[in-house]
Amino acid sequence: MSQFLPDFLQLYIPNAIQIAYLIATGFFIVGIKRLNSPATARSGNQYASFGMLLGVVVTLFDREIISFEFIIAGVLIGAVIGIFAAKKVQMTAMPEMVALFNGSGGGASALVAWGEFSRMDPHFFDIQSLVTIGLSILIGSITFTGSLVAFGKLSGYIGGGRIALPGQNIINLVLTFIAFGLVGWFAVDPEYQLVFWLLFGLALLIGVLTVLPIGGADMPVVISLLNSYSGIAASMAGFVVGNNLLIISGALVGAAGLILTNIMCKAMNRTLPNVLFGAFGGDSAGAVIAGDSDKSIQQTFPDDVAIQCAYAKKVIIAPGYGLAVAQAQHALKEVANLLEERGVTVKYGIHPVAGRMPGHMNVLLAEADVPYDQLKDMDEINPEFSTTDVVLIIGANDVVNPAAKTSPGSPIYGMPILNVDEARRTIVFKRSMNPGYAGIDNDLFYSEKNQMFFGDAKKSLNELAAAIKELD
Ligand code: TAP
Repeated sequence: MSQFLPDFLQLYIPNAIQIAYLIATGFFIVGIKRLNSPATARSGNQYASFGMLLGVVVTLFDREIISFEFIIAGVLIGAVIGIFAAKKVQMTAMPEMVALFNGSGGGASALVAWGEFSRMDPHFFDIQSLVTIGLSILIGSITFTGSLVAFGKLSGYIGGGRIALPGQNIINLVLTFIAFGLVGWFAVDPEYQLVFWLLFGLALLIGVLTVLPIGGADMPVVISLLNSYSGIAASMAGFVVGNNLLIISGALVGAAGLILTNIMCKAMNRTLPNVLFGAFGGDSAGAVIAGDSDKSIQQTFPDDVAIQCAYAKKVIIAPGYGLAVAQAQHALKEVANLLEERGVTVKYGIHPVAGRMPGHMNVLLAEADVPYDQLKDMDEINPEFSTTDVVLIIGANDVVNPAAKTSPGSPIYGMPILNVDEARRTIVFKRSMNPGYAGIDNDLFYSEKNQMFFGDAKKSLNELAAAIKELD
């Protein structure tokens, strides 16, 4: 495209491109920063998207781009697929979509490295460039197949439990060492094509073998880690093609993904090796263990719940995955509005891993226009439960399970939870006595202070709203 500009302007193009890349990077950084709070997250997304558009448009002016039509076609096709997918995807399927995005990013980075390597004579590259190409292929390909397996597990195409040979962790470790050895071999002897293809094939295999043994319950953490890998792969690809924007944006994604992985591990009281090498994490998403039939529960109904809530001073709502499944956020907001009209203080206690993806509850509740100042993080809300009359637990289970505090043998032992058991009354909205993601029974349900309100959360909340309206 630059060939259409006058000569004197062409002199300035390389610098202008770099400055524009810097501005685009600024937009990425501000965008990520704004994702910190639900109040600014939307604009954060817009900032980052604008940065990306700027990056793509500016790249059209790069002298080395001979056919910019391909880029425009790519932007158009990508935008159409992106808009279609974002509008169509269910909230509960968001992790699957992110897995596919990560896989595409990793695969694209590997292809860029391959394309760059195959378009020139191997002698043209110095050893650093060849190491970078090798690493880009390695990390990009692992991300690609690893993310596809993660997608398969989350969407049920592949069994969610551990799928592993005996000694799988050792096998994976050995294969990874071999792969790094191949990167070295490729860098010193790039003409030997077999090494290149072996590296490619082995990396694809490692992606499959490392994610297959990880249980479905841990998949969101793995996806976050793969997101980080896709960033590192993009950064490597940036070095390969000498594009500063790709290097920086890849590094940003790599760092953000690692930080998120760390936050999720901490919130679940797990270490990353514990997630990756599978201390637990079986197919708990699909496990169906009926509640303990020897213990008794108290069942409740809309009219009773309405009276307890309407005459309470303070009600805290503890939402969980079931809220997302039932798409009950608007019904919940209506109940909260009705209670507030009656002078009840309503707050929401948000556990960091409630739901199935980071920020899941925040996004859901924001959709129903719940004011951000009512959303309280776990650390902020926990001291308040002891002075709360009623806690409505809507489709949450593991994040309120006292076994995390009291049962050293439990898979969730040590995970910080919402201390709902300290409130005067808890009411659990769920359909049955089935367990949550960790696949374990919940003693809270049998507590004397607890009542079970069975049914789909949306239906139950609608019934509750109607019952509150009936009160004078
Ligand atoms: P869960 O423990 O998974 O419990 C969700 C409950 O919702 C289930 O017990 C289910 O019971 C109920 N439910 C499902 N559909 C419902 C509907 N239509 N109406 C009413 N209730 C419904 O959820 P949680 O408490 O949010 O905990 C999240 C879990 O996911 C934790 O174990 C966490 O470690 C794990 N996890 C989360 C993340 C992130 S980032 N959020 C990442 C990895 C793992 P019924 O079937 O009886 O209705």
